[in-house]
Amino acid sequence: MTGGDGRSLRRRELMTGAAGLAGLALALRTSPARAASKRVESLLDQMTIDEKAGQLSCYADMIRPPVGDINPVVNQRNTEQLLAEIRASRIGTLFNGEGVEGALLAQTTAVQQSRLGIPLLFAADVIHGFKTVFPIPLAEAASFDPGLAERTARAAAVEATSYGLHWTFAPMVDVARDQRWGRGAEGSGEDVFLGEAMAQARVRGFQGRDLAAPDSLLATAKHFAAYGAVTAGLDYNTVELSEETLREVHLPPFKAAFDAGCLAVMSAFNDINGVPATANKHLLTDILRNEWDFRGVVISDYTADQELVAHGFAADDRDAARLAILAGVDISMQSGLYSRYLPELVSSGLVPMAVVDSAVRRVLSLKERMGLFDQPYRSLDAKAQAANTATPAARALSREAGARSIVLLRNDAGLLPLPTQGQRIALIGPFAEDRDNILGPWAFYGDRSLGVDLATGIRAALADPSKLTIARGCDVENTLLGGYDQAVAAAAAADVVLLAVGEGQNMSGEAQSRTEIGLPRVQQRLAELVAQTGKPMVVLLRHGRALTLDGAVKAAPAILATWFLGAETGNAVADVLFGKVNPSARLPVSFPHESGQEPYAYNHRTTGRPAPQADDSQEYKARWRTTRNEALYPFGYGLGYTTFVLSNIRLSTARLAWNDKLYVTAQVANTGKVAGEHVVQLYVRDRVASRTRPVRELKRFIRVALKPGEKRDVRFTLERGSLMFVGDGDRWLAEPGMFDLWVANNAVDGLAASFELLGA
Ligand code: NOJ
Repeated sequence: MTGGDGRSLRRRELMTGAAGLAGLALALRTSPARAASKRVESLLDQMTIDEKAGQLSCYADMIRPPVGDINPVVNQRNTEQLLAEIRASRIGTLFNGEGVEGALLAQTTAVQQSRLGIPLLFAADVIHGFKTVFPIPLAEAASFDPGLAERTARAAAVEATSYGLHWTFAPMVDVARDQRWGRGAEGSGEDVFLGEAMAQARVRGFQGRDLAAPDSLLATAKHFAAYGAVTAGLDYNTVELSEETLREVHLPPFKAAFDAGCLAVMSAFNDINGVPATANKHLLTDILRNEWDFRGVVISDYTADQELVAHGFAADDRDAARLAILAGVDISMQSGLYSRYLPELVSSGLVPMAVVDSAVRRVLSLKERMGLFDQPYRSLDAKAQAANTATPAARALSREAGARSIVLLRNDAGLLPLPTQGQRIALIGPFAEDRDNILGPWAFYGDRSLGVDLATGIRAALADPSKLTIARGCDVENTLLGGYDQAVAAAAAADVVLLAVGEGQNMSGEAQSRTEIGLPRVQQRLAELVAQTGKPMVVLLRHGRALTLDGAVKAAPAILATWFLGAETGNAVADVLFGKVNPSARLPVSFPHESGQEPYAYNHRTTGRPAPQADDSQEYKARWRTTRNEALYPFGYGLGYTTFVLSNIRLSTARLAWNDKLYVTAQVANTGKVAGEHVVQLYVRDRVASRTRPVRELKRFIRVALKPGEKRDVRFTLERGSLMFVGDGDRWLAEPGMFDLWVANNAVDGLAASFELLGA
């Protein structure tokens, strides 16, 4: 036995080792290892334990390294070392490299020079586009348009596979209800139902119809699980979570992704109630394999197995490898622990060979499903790389997706859309001409030269481009000499001001937690000074999370949430500003009044002392001293250049039988002067249950396109399955009784009705 603390190691080996092994043997008996294909079984028969450990090891691809700082520099190997290890069958997957040439070198080495010729998998973080960058996933979630998410994921897959990639570490399906957490940018926001829809769309888009097709990119649902629930929104922080909330809020988007065919999942960095996700047998085996029958592979997050030591959960690296594989992690990312320790852990009996074999079987079966044994050089075609880079179709899709992700938060007196001529426009703010903060976090492969900044996009839309003046005013977090004066002068000389303010792209994403989610102070000051000119002001927010808005920004007559929109940012914003596109996105996250309200989500549970309504200022209620309890802009909220009116809600029955369907119908009318799209939302509340229930939960949404004056009925179907929650015994159940529902424009308004679910 090795390790710094022999005693704790022994104790744990007794707990998860000896007892664990007995349990494991039982598990293997009750669910015998599924035999794979003859080819896979025959390979497995021939493999040494070192070769098996190699198939379970994944390293940063330094043969063709990407630009950009993606992960800490740990255990990196140079080209020569990597090639030597590939030859020695010590590597199964390389990640985060790009380009056909280097991939060919690595794959040829694996196929022709390693003993069994098992091809490599090439993985990468293709999060929202590859060369052509699309809106960040959170922005795209605002489109409430899973079809759009599927199309951008497909386009990303086509580009990425042309660069010699098989596998993306996306989609991130973590539900994020604390806007201080920077990684919300990579997900679909605070809602479970929207998260499920987006997860499935992205899986379908990445993987396409046939996993073996050269343009199919294997998807990874990450980070399993509850990474979005880190305490205080601090990245990597500990997670304290009830089993009910885990199952009801954080797990469903994973399950949805698997149901859509996703065959990989990444174990998270965080612990849950004291057990790190990467050593969490409950999650990785009991739920994933036994309850859900997941047949794909589990990969650890970057060095997450090794981090079990820092967690204080493993005594040393060897112990960490043991805990990770026994819990159910198939592939170890970057730490090298599996290669280093699995052979000895198996020979000493601490890890059964059967456990290693199951993991290898899964990895080889995946390679087989992806066609790699028959076509090891799939996706390694230099011509495809050239032909599929930033095609006009991909760029047009990026522009479309950008415009469809923009949320119009405020538009007093119809200030927007602006005319394309006749007005002098001052574009002010650090993002006016900026090209460094267009793509957003997690766009390392993006071709920055393709990025269209705001000034370029707006100028191109104007009849007379000389009507646009630019003043930066300040930097993202610093002042500029003379910047405020220039900005005020530009505003004073203009008819309308566009104020481009918000977060830099390095302010959200991994490790970018914030304690205050407002504008940096220098930008707030800029906004106040510009507003004093009295010119009508349109705020163009840039952000990777919900923001708090203050002072002149909050009071501006027009506000657009523009997130990080990717390559076509300037054009997409111009399309909305000048009315070429009528904005129709809706918030996937609530915008709170103050940072201190976080974590905040519309679908919070009821309390015994609910927040007072309207101006009722009663004490001793669930309220803050200084701030109202609701959101400034709620989940699901967004305006457009026309108006929609919902009316005439009808239920097919007021008494829903246990196995029946309930049809909810309402009319939606476009009462404005231009064509537009509306997102009609259906929310439900369980009035009385054996668990306190959320005040509302989104259960359905539908996009409707209507011409001016047009009206249409929308119909939703509900059944018992949508009324369930996790109750006693951590089981999903529905309880008979009264339910409220709303057909709504957002999470806090709507036409109300109610029905009773009758018992079985
Ligand atoms: C760490 C991140 O948490 C994960 O999302 C990513 O896929 C890996 N690094 C690999 O880059």
